[in-house]
Amino acid sequence: MIETIRWKSGKLKLIDQTKLPKILKYIICRNKSDVWKAIHTMQVRGAPAIGVVAGFGLAFGTEQIKTKNVNLFYKEFDKIIYYLKTSRPTAKNLSWALERIKNKVIDMGYNNVASIKKAAFDEAIAIYKEDVILCRKLGQLGQKLIKNNVTIMTICNAGALAAVDFGTALSLIYEAKNKGKNLEVYALETRPFLQGARLTSWELKKSGIDVTLISDNMAATVLKTKKVDLIIAGADRIARNGDTANKIGTYGLAILAKFHKVPFYIVAPFSTFDLKLKDGRQIPIEERKAKELTHDFFKQPIAPKGIKVYNPAFDVTDNGLITAIVTERGIIYPPFKENIAKILEK
Ligand code: MRU
Repeated sequence: MIETIRWKSGKLKLIDQTKLPKILKYIICRNKSDVWKAIHTMQVRGAPAIGVVAGFGLAFGTEQIKTKNVNLFYKEFDKIIYYLKTSRPTAKNLSWALERIKNKVIDMGYNNVASIKKAAFDEAIAIYKEDVILCRKLGQLGQKLIKNNVTIMTICNAGALAAVDFGTALSLIYEAKNKGKNLEVYALETRPFLQGARLTSWELKKSGIDVTLISDNMAATVLKTKKVDLIIAGADRIARNGDTANKIGTYGLAILAKFHKVPFYIVAPFSTFDLKLKDGRQIPIEERKAKELTHDFFKQPIAPKGIKVYNPAFDVTDNGLITAIVTERGIIYPPFKENIAKILEK
């Protein structure tokens, strides 16, 4: 199993995903700035992984707070949360993890700073450990959707490199393989950051899964001319009505799926849901550097110097294009607004 995030003996070790697939290199984060940088530069990426690592960033940050006064401590604590939230805007898991840690330490009601600091670390570690259970659960519950001898298409990377364990969407694939099911995968390269080419095809190939890499603009013809049974994707933020933000290109792929009558599934834990949002229009969409488009993975220019660029990193797939959402609490089918609310009440 690929260990994307390792917490051992007080050390946070991460695979530097900007170096893959050429080099498998680890970095060590020792403080909140290291964590901020790792998330911002996408050395670590993928919604669940971002949440887990941000949790450790907050724990590191609280350790560095000098005051012994609890009120002053909480002021500094909030500043760290604000700072870490600025690392990347779209994945809900980031603010979810930070708010969970904050709520936990407040609930404990400690009146000394040392206990609060320990509680923050304990909660960050709990989030890290729970992610393993979540990934497995998503994989197991999703088996209902995966028959034997199927061909699956996926976009971006929602696998082991995006979480502590098997990932979200790719967890269904790993679990199916463990159960002895035969499957084949088409991975979209995922322009411009190439998570599909660099990460998904790397981790699936390494795990002995039959994976074929295609460029994003080949998806339509593959859906038309080959047998694709289902499409699965992860999510960065899901609104109350099921509208889903995921990697740029997911929306287009969902439209293609509808046209070709191929089921389109989203796989995500509840930490990705943002129930304050009525629909996808309120989801913050990250815009990234022009260089991701104008240069061949930051090296050779592949576009004229000074060209105007628009580079949104995510798009929103309307709930009407989604067949179902696999969560750790069960598979949610349309109508999403009602069924998301129902599953929460359980
Ligand atoms: O920009 P990234 O690589 O962080 O985007 C990742 C995705 O869009 C994933 O599909 C999503 O975070 C789910 S990861 C389990």
